[in-house]
Amino acid sequence: MKALFLYGLSLFLFCSASLADTLTIYSYRHYESDVLLFDKFTEETGIDVKVVKSKAGALLERLKAEGDQTPADVLITSDAGRLHQAREAGVLQPIKSPFLEQRVPVNLRDPDGYWYGFTQRARVLVYAPDRVTEDELSTYEDLAAAEWRGRLLVRSSANVYNQSLLSAMIDSNGKEQAREWAQAVRKNMARAPQGSDRDQMRAVAAGLGDVAIVNTYYLGLLANSDNQKDRAVAAQLKVFFPNQSARGTHVNVSGAGIVAGSDHVEAAQQFLEYLATDQAQSVFPGATFEYPVVAGIEWSPLQQKWGTFKADAISLTRLGELNSDAIRCFNLAGWE
Ligand SMILES: [Fe+2]
Repeated sequence: MKALFLYGLSLFLFCSASLADTLTIYSYRHYESDVLLFDKFTEETGIDVKVVKSKAGALLERLKAEGDQTPADVLITSDAGRLHQAREAGVLQPIKSPFLEQRVPVNLRDPDGYWYGFTQRARVLVYAPDRVTEDELSTYEDLAAAEWRGRLLVRSSANVYNQSLLSAMIDSNGKEQAREWAQAVRKNMARAPQGSDRDQMRAVAAGLGDVAIVNTYYLGLLANSDNQKDRAVAAQLKVFFPNQSARGTHVNVSGAGIVAGSDHVEAAQQFLEYLATDQAQSVFPGATFEYPVVAGIEWSPLQQKWGTFKADAISLTRLGELNSDAIRCFNLAGWE
């Protein structure tokens, strides 16, 4: 049944090849595996893909400035906070796709079809097992406890991954508690927030702190790095999925939406649908260590080793709506 369905889809993709010669993608992602995937799309549909890569903020500004004159057809970016921002800025247009609605879980896409998540990542605790035991860890909330003083590592609050995590906490616990949490975690940090998620893990491995808050795929990237030092960092660390007994671990997505000024809407929709096929979904776990959004796609051995987990089922749109509240909480809490 599934095979028939996918065969039908690829026929459909093939038949509409003449609709657009080139699709222009503005992408914040910078993975070689994305390029290989887009080549596959071209092979199947005859539609060429041109990718313009830049920082997330720069892409949004560019789309705003270009308006109807934009050459872009699709925007790809990470984090629901950014996708929501793009919708609010008026640079995306909604599409109705029964295929995407069936494939992408309802909480991982915009309710009106402005954007769709196509990979998932969990924001987890990574720890040094020689200094922390698994049973000492439980929830994000617990990181506010005095026992973690001087032991936590996490990047700046200017980063959208932290903003979305705090948005989820505001939704669950209220603004006041979220602000108090941010204040306590700031006090518990081993150093002022700096660097990337990968830098936090390097600092744990170097003994600067004991627990880092990071996105799962960065551990995968360290573990599979060309750099022997980074592989050694990953080998020293363990993953803990927080909040398993209640709302679940915070997850977010990389997602895509069709640009409001696109002249190739049908081809752009085919492209988004392609990202949700079994073929595309099964590339991500092994290539970028992101989780698929479609159920039943096999995880990479490394992800299987980290283990299954309960994910927070909050609608990611809600994280976008709460983003400015989260930024305010961080500022009040003194988390730079
Ligand atoms: Fe990232």
